[in-house]
Amino acid sequence: MDFEGKVALVTGASRRIGAALALAFGQRGGSVVVNFLSGKERAECIASQVEAAGGRALAICADIRDQGAVREMVGRAVENFGGIDFLINNARHLHAKKPFLELDWEQDMRSQLEVHLGGAFHCCQAVIPHMKNRGGGTIVNMLSTAFRAANPGQHAYGPAKAALRNFTMNLAAEFGPLGIRVNSVTPGSTASPEFPSRNRSEAEVENLRQKIPLRRIASPEDVAETVVFLCSDASRHITGADLPVNGGSQIIL
Ligand SMILES: NC(=O)c1ccc[n+]([C@@H]2O[C@H](COP(=O)([O-])OP(=O)(O)OC[C@H]3O[C@@H](n4cnc5c(N)ncnc54)[C@H](OP(=O)(O)O)[C@@H]3O)[C@@H](O)[C@H]2O)c1
Repeated sequence: MDFEGKVALVTGASRRIGAALALAFGQRGGSVVVNFLSGKERAECIASQVEAAGGRALAICADIRDQGAVREMVGRAVENFGGIDFLINNARHLHAKKPFLELDWEQDMRSQLEVHLGGAFHCCQAVIPHMKNRGGGTIVNMLSTAFRAANPGQHAYGPAKAALRNFTMNLAAEFGPLGIRVNSVTPGSTASPEFPSRNRSEAEVENLRQKIPLRRIASPEDVAETVVFLCSDASRHITGADLPVNGGSQIIL
């Protein structure tokens, strides 16, 4: 899969899955916008790694909750690279798991919806006109197994990801005729030596691994390779779909 001449915008690319995504595009010769919010140094380091791998990169700070900041970022991307072919809505707002009665609408629910749904909304509105100009493009929205499973601690995160799934389906139906494919990827737990699990001890991670049919925890690269597939011509007839990357930890109809 050769992405030479292609341009990817990855939100939340300063670490973990987003960083692996930026590198995966760069290793295939693509140009990448490495979006970040607070991790300037990390984002610039990822941009250097993309360039060392053979791609071109631009680290851009933009809060995806802010429509103006997103439009400015997209404008800079187009000015520097000539257009946008792939948009990966990957950024996430970290959340504390709380029982329902302790939740606050503004701090917990609205903040999740604003980043996951609102951020994807602003990025899609800013990028799709440029994809139309290029005669097509691919959007991938990053979900989580929490979007389709009951989990009492995930009242804020789960519904925000479920909304993003429905958003994905509607965009796929509307923009398919213009050659714009819109899919989602649903990672299960993802960890790497550099980025161990945030919420689990080593023993808990091992326990989790034993319950996964493929007996491994996904690495950020496992998720990135699936996104690469969805952006490539190999998936040219796939739109509106969701691809789980979970080693079989959540097998559904
Ligand atoms: N890791 C997992 O186990 C896992 C499992 C299932 C699904 N996922 C999904 O996969 C995606 C990536 O997860 P991750 O764990 O790799 O992410 P992460 O380590 O939590 O990083 C989040 C990224 O989002 C950026 N960000 C946060 N708020 C932002 C905003 N308002 N505007 C722009 N950027 C913002 C952060 O930027 P700064 O650091 O620069 O502030 C950071 O780069 C997420 O959508 C997550 O829900 C992850």
